[in-house]
Amino acid sequence: MPLKNINPTTTTAWKKLNDHFNEAKDFDLKDLFRNNKKRKNNFSIEYSGLALDYSKNLINQKTIDLLIELANEVDLKDAINKYFSGDKINAIEDRAVLHTALRNNSEEPILVDDKDVKPQIQTGLRKVKSFSNKVISGKWKGFTGKSITDVVNIGVGGSDLGPDMAVEALQFYKNKLNTHFVSNVDGDHVSEVLKKLNAETTLFIIVSKTFTTQETITNANTIRDWFLNSATVFDVSKHFVAVSSNAEEAINFGIDKKNIFPMWNWVGGRFSLWSSVGLSISLSVGFDNFRKLLDGAYEIDTHFKTADFDENIPVVLALLSIWYNNFYESETEVVLPYNQYLSKLPAYLQQAVMESNGKGVDRNGEEVNYQTGTIIWGSTGVNMQHAFMQLVHQGTKLIPSDFIGYKESLHGMVVHHEKLMANYYAQMEALAFGKTKEEVHLELKLNNKKEDISTLLPYKIFKGNRPSNSILFEKLTPKTLGMLISTYEHKIFTQGVLWNIYSYDQFGVELGKELANKLLKH
Ligand code: F6P
Repeated sequence: MPLKNINPTTTTAWKKLNDHFNEAKDFDLKDLFRNNKKRKNNFSIEYSGLALDYSKNLINQKTIDLLIELANEVDLKDAINKYFSGDKINAIEDRAVLHTALRNNSEEPILVDDKDVKPQIQTGLRKVKSFSNKVISGKWKGFTGKSITDVVNIGVGGSDLGPDMAVEALQFYKNKLNTHFVSNVDGDHVSEVLKKLNAETTLFIIVSKTFTTQETITNANTIRDWFLNSATVFDVSKHFVAVSSNAEEAINFGIDKKNIFPMWNWVGGRFSLWSSVGLSISLSVGFDNFRKLLDGAYEIDTHFKTADFDENIPVVLALLSIWYNNFYESETEVVLPYNQYLSKLPAYLQQAVMESNGKGVDRNGEEVNYQTGTIIWGSTGVNMQHAFMQLVHQGTKLIPSDFIGYKESLHGMVVHHEKLMANYYAQMEALAFGKTKEEVHLELKLNNKKEDISTLLPYKIFKGNRPSNSILFEKLTPKTLGMLISTYEHKIFTQGVLWNIYSYDQFGVELGKELANKLLKH
């Protein structure tokens, strides 16, 4: 069954939210905290080691109640059930959206066109496992009999960003294999990667659902030519494997049928790292860790599917985002992981969020008359404090922020970690509560800067009242990474449902491709 088709702005809840906004626009976080000593408790959710503190948002209980009323009025629950059961909610492409099935390790069948997809998923995972074991153990030999030392993922968009982000994030758990990523059709990219490699000991994974993507196929051909400088065509199958749903083209490329890993049309590229698209992750950290990543995602799937909306982390994050996007008219959201391993998370989320919800036509085929997809950007803390945070603190725009933190660091380094986390909390406090005129005045006086007060005062005031979420885990593990990504996936889904758009196609990327092909012919 397709998703329901309800323009959110015609709902009673939306009208109530509009009225409520007249009072909410004057909310002051200091007052909200002063008047409710239990505010932090009231606006926090904990689930399986993930703690969301959303108390530093421009909301009160009524805001949350009304946002939940909106979710109920558009029947989010029904949409969630359809999403998990394999209904063709990507209606324009007549496809189910089942990245959640990839990590579902329960016994329940999941049907697409009356056929259970679970057995194919299990077979695909077993193949990833046995291949990873062979390569990691050194049993898989290259054309001169040497074991593999380097793995190169050739792909773009969803066939690159997810694996690249996860391999980087899980570096701490990595084995002896070195993993590289080639994505850009810019020849300088592939050239730089090839410079570091030895054809005898390198394994190339061509990841392309369609196996027709210009960038990926161009890079794969260039790499095969480079490889053939040292080897023969008969050696290609020992060094090139593919992840694709287009087996025919992969075989034409020279890949052994046995070494084609599956991809299905009910998994969108940007949500595919849980499938064999994650082969580079499994090679880098071992299949057991890859399975833990999947298990973490599955825990959040279960939470999202079953928790009441006011206790549901992805739902609450999505509703807050709608509150800022559609009522406060914020245009962007900033994602700030206080963890260097997560340096590629913002780029990954940019595709996941913006390719999904960057849509201007609703599920009725009509142009929307309200704002949809938010712009996502970000970088790691604390580096961004010395870069763009000035604008978030004192600029003219309201930019809701997600702070992602870990109670423990992976290498110990307690002194470093205490400083990192002090900054984590300090930033959110500064954004929320700022510094008043009186406080600045007193500070300047105490610092013997009396004569400068009138000049300096306006520049040193922080208005505060800038919203943030704290998303806190114990430590970065494959499991908690899975939980984090899955949380954002369901936030994206929830927002698409509420905005009455289709989140799982991406026609917006086609025109540029078409024109580039035309220009190339000329
Ligand atoms: O151009 C966008 C896109 O279709 C993405 O959605 C996808 O992740 C990427 O291209 C790569 O596609 P493929 O896996 O078919 O090469």
